[in-house]
Amino acid sequence: MSFLEFIKNIQDKQADALNMPSLPKEFILKSVVDSNLNNHIVAHFEPDSPLSEQYRRLRENLKTIRKKEKLQTIAVTSSTKEEGKSITSLNLAVTLAKDVDCKSVLLVDCDLRRGMLDVSLDLNLKVGLSDYLFLGADVESILYKTKIDKLTLMPRGKIANDPAELLGSNRMEALLEKIRKNFDYIILDTPPVIAVADSGIVCAQADGVIMVIRAGKTQRGIVKHSTELLEQSKAKLLGYVLTHIEYPIPEAIYRYV
Ligand SMILES: Nc1ncnc2c1ncn2[C@@H]1O[C@H](COP(=O)(O)OP(=O)(O)O)[C@@H](O)[C@H]1O
Ligand SMILES: [Mg+2]
Repeated sequence: MSFLEFIKNIQDKQADALNMPSLPKEFILKSVVDSNLNNHIVAHFEPDSPLSEQYRRLRENLKTIRKKEKLQTIAVTSSTKEEGKSITSLNLAVTLAKDVDCKSVLLVDCDLRRGMLDVSLDLNLKVGLSDYLFLGADVESILYKTKIDKLTLMPRGKIANDPAELLGSNRMEALLEKIRKNFDYIILDTPPVIAVADSGIVCAQADGVIMVIRAGKTQRGIVKHSTELLEQSKAKLLGYVLTHIEYPIPEAIYRYV
């Protein structure tokens, strides 16, 4: 099946709205010796690369939607694990932070089971979202300045026993309400939709959701199923981002994406 046929098969009107930005597979452009930030954060390390251009395209598409409707809190999810949710969240958050019109971005690690955003940002933090939700930590104590300008992180915190309960609690809703005032954008990195209920619960609290699809791995039926699960949780799907695609992208496809 060609790439275009693949897109046609999974597309819906909302996917069209985002134009399916796609990120080539081989995207570690250089080894980074002077930093312990995750070297997949290409938007930081290689801002002029074609890959970072794809993230900027995603940002501009989101900004276009934002002109018409409220879009401040954006959840990034996928059907299964290791499709590229966290790397997409990181690069999207960095790309938004680089926008001249943007003053502040908050990246929230809502994967209370396996989240590692603090490690990716070279921070290694013990206290985070789960501590706020479970133990009542102060909001201020779980917001951390990162090495990237204008980007703040709310890390996962201690591994929680019942993430779905915590994420669906009134405290989570109240937290988002409270922090909304302080940031232009809030990006929520989530666990996979199919495995656990957590993701749907978080996605429903966002203004819009981006679903990551891993090219060559995620099956069409699975994408359809996770899309239905999101709809059931009353989340608003904005569109899809395709990761791990083969590089170089044929010119014909480039024109399309
Ligand atoms: N666009 C991409 N292209 C190639 N590899 C990627 C891409 N995004 C992520 N990866 C790799 O895939 C793996 C899983 O990524 P991650 O963002 O942690 O997935 P998830 O959060 O969905 O579990 C990581 O090893 C990462 O290096
Ligand atoms: Mg992840």
